[in-house]
Amino acid sequence: MSLTNETLASLVRPDSVHKRVYTDPQIFELEMKRIYGQAWIYVGHESQVKHPGDYHTTRLGDQDVVMVRATDGQIQVVYNRCPHKGAKVVPDGDGTTGRFFRCPYHAWTFKLDGTHLSAPLKNGLQNTCFDPKHPDFSMRKVARVGVYRGFVFASQAAEGPGLEEFLNGVASSIDNLCDRSPVGEVEVAGGVFRVLQRSNWKVFYENLHDTMHAPVTHESSVVSARSQAQEQGSLPFELLIMEGNGEPYEFWEKLELRAYDNGHGYMEGIFDPAAAERDPVSSAHFVALAEAYGETRAREILGMNRHNTVIYGSGSPHTVFQQFRVIRPLSVDRTLVEIQTFKLKGAPDSVFERALTYANVINSPSSNVMPDDVEVYARCQQGNMTNGGDWISMHRYAGTDRQVENGMVSINGTSELPMRNQFAAWKRFMLNETAAEEGAR
Ligand code: FES
Ligand SMILES: [Fe+2]
Repeated sequence: MSLTNETLASLVRPDSVHKRVYTDPQIFELEMKRIYGQAWIYVGHESQVKHPGDYHTTRLGDQDVVMVRATDGQIQVVYNRCPHKGAKVVPDGDGTTGRFFRCPYHAWTFKLDGTHLSAPLKNGLQNTCFDPKHPDFSMRKVARVGVYRGFVFASQAAEGPGLEEFLNGVASSIDNLCDRSPVGEVEVAGGVFRVLQRSNWKVFYENLHDTMHAPVTHESSVVSARSQAQEQGSLPFELLIMEGNGEPYEFWEKLELRAYDNGHGYMEGIFDPAAAERDPVSSAHFVALAEAYGETRAREILGMNRHNTVIYGSGSPHTVFQQFRVIRPLSVDRTLVEIQTFKLKGAPDSVFERALTYANVINSPSSNVMPDDVEVYARCQQGNMTNGGDWISMHRYAGTDRQVENGMVSINGTSELPMRNQFAAWKRFMLNETAAEEGAR
């Protein structure tokens, strides 16, 4: 079956999707062009490149790119490719390249914005078509770079909505994450965790707002959390979610799920405000924020009771425990999740320590919660490779979602609205072949 737009459109119904969207390598390749070639994708945080010459490598879909702080202090994002023979210019990871990039193969050099600087033994290039000013001899820039409160995104499409318009209602999650700092700024700190998942990238996004799975998939971690809580009297605030996953269905039904264009969304109302009030770290945090912003605003900032946010194609920022789970598709059945933890500048150290504990215990590779999810994602991938059926159900509360000013809201917290919304965006991106072709590729 070839991948015409008609075929692609037939794979997504209002309340279900064909399993092929998770298993077909051809579809994965097209996603890299039409989703990752068009959307704004999170590249990294500007604190990862503090000084000119500092770089951080990452991927926009299947494209290796480098985020670098240029000499003028601006952040640039360039493809990690030398225009001579195509060598990757910097190795994967974070580092500093000094005042310019130097290719490890034949020592062509480039300014920090990627433009050609020099090539050795120029004599041999004279009287040829070699032109150091021609873009063909520079490292190519990614079409657009946008920075929202220190969070750097890039889009491979020259045209399209601006970053803020793209983020829509989920920009408020980034705002709240930053506002939790008494000076309104955050920085990546404490290293990152990496988790390799043997499943398609979309499953992770769907699961972030899948409230029906929590008491089932996480049953064993709920049992151990309960016994710990009993032994210790209670769990600290940052670990309550472990026990909370075992809440009865009525609890999940009361939550509110928000969905926005482009596949984004978030879940409201999961943390018990009374538990936050009992938490000594939250109290110290409140004092620091009240000094900076006044009590009313401090209460408002800490009162935003939001759990997982989805920025479709990029990952999941978490406001209360200061992290960004960056989701990188590797192949149709492999996904890398990188967990960045943020320090709130000017906040008590205990707030950062609490975020590290959350990352360690809830979603690191050796945590008590994330491996449960990773196991069921792999089971979905394996099950969908069998001839046991073709369609995936997203029927729960289909047709009941309410339209609000700039998005949609569920009438019940167990609604599969977020999945339906993600696939509506998926379909729109995937059918928009013209825009993808006009992009940088
Ligand atoms: S490949 Fe980069 S200088 Fe030759
Ligand atoms: Fe889970």
